Amino acid sequence: MRMYDLIMKKRNGGVLSDEEIRFMVKGFTAGEIPDYQMSAMMMAVYFQGMNEDETLSLTMEMAKSGDMLDLSDIKGIKTDKHSTGGVGDKTSLALAPMVASLGVPVAKMSGRGLGHTGGTIDKLESFKGFSTEISEEQFKENVNRIGIAIMGQTADLAPADKKLYALRDVTATVDNMSLIASSIMSKKLAAGADAIVLDVKTGSGAFMKKEEDSFALAREMVRIGTGAGRSTMAIVSDMDQPLGFAVGNALEVREAIDTLNGRGPKDFEELCLTLGSYMTLAAGKASSVEEARQMLVSCIADGRAVNKLAEFVEAQGGDKDMVYHPERLPKAPIIEEIQSPCDGYVQRIVCDEIGICSLILGGGRETKESSIDLSVGLVLHKKVGDAVRKGESLATIHANDREKLEAAKSRFLAAYTINDMPVTKKPLIKGIVNK
Ligand code: URA
Repeated sequence: MRMYDLIMKKRNGGVLSDEEIRFMVKGFTAGEIPDYQMSAMMMAVYFQGMNEDETLSLTMEMAKSGDMLDLSDIKGIKTDKHSTGGVGDKTSLALAPMVASLGVPVAKMSGRGLGHTGGTIDKLESFKGFSTEISEEQFKENVNRIGIAIMGQTADLAPADKKLYALRDVTATVDNMSLIASSIMSKKLAAGADAIVLDVKTGSGAFMKKEEDSFALAREMVRIGTGAGRSTMAIVSDMDQPLGFAVGNALEVREAIDTLNGRGPKDFEELCLTLGSYMTLAAGKASSVEEARQMLVSCIADGRAVNKLAEFVEAQGGDKDMVYHPERLPKAPIIEEIQSPCDGYVQRIVCDEIGICSLILGGGRETKESSIDLSVGLVLHKKVGDAVRKGESLATIHANDREKLEAAKSRFLAAYTINDMPVTKKPLIKGIVNK
């Protein structure tokens, strides 16, 4: 078999067989198929697409390209949750302790931020001493002992995807449904959880900008997960504006803590309750979504959820006192308001631009090697549909450098459209996809 022939076949609209996909993934992972040939293949897939069988085959081959974690030593139905990425998406920080406090085992693999989207690992490192570099044994022991552990993606987990994603990132081939679905699901399958709950984002801050594409991606991933024998469901949620108010690592941690104390933004709380209900149900800890939701509301009200976060932070080397005293989280030296230039209603926020503001402030990575400042970012005060008066604060900006602050501020103002037409607020949850 020759990679050249496979590229030609896909370029001309052909369908790759299981055997051909296996050859391609194995050869690329082993370094026998060079980046330039794989780049050409990715572009051919981008234009010609992959059918359901090809997508499933690509997913399984990438999942099997490294270690498949065996979590059978952990008691109960292990759950994992994955978001396709967005701005202000601090969901795992609140959701994981919420469900773990109900006895749902959370064995989660997380990533760092790249580009305009943030990553759970960076956010968690706002807790002094916290580390996700724990061994597989420690990971399993923590899930068994306290019901929750989060680790970074190891080099041995779905290495084919790791290599391929890096290539897609620089060849404009990320935003293809089959490639995103196989990339995410290969990692989820290799990470070993029994039940997978997916949060597929839609809108200007998401990979999938159009709702119908997001639903198609959700359906594809549910089909793959279910086909691989894992209980899988997805929700499609809005990312046409940031989630909650805070964007930036330590600021988001603070907002997640507020949410666990029952004082979080309503949209963010709603998302956590919805995803959490499906995780609780999938783990067999409730008999209906309604019952699960009620259980989650209770664990926030009586403090179990916030105490679980403290326990989790401590178990991974972090300072748990910061959970109870979030004023001790990293703080930026310059804090200023961004004032509205006019009266009116917020019509639109170009969501990925707000993520870029945080990036400019130093809160995100331009490249995988960049170092970040956990303290910087923005806290929005006005979201789509809100009325605003001239001079009123649209957001508080947290910066470590005046030049960066000015650059982020002008970009922030350009991302907001304010005029005098009242706006109907759109629902956060667009729909649920299950088998
Ligand atoms: N996240 C991933 O892990 N892979 C993609 O292709 C897109 C988002």
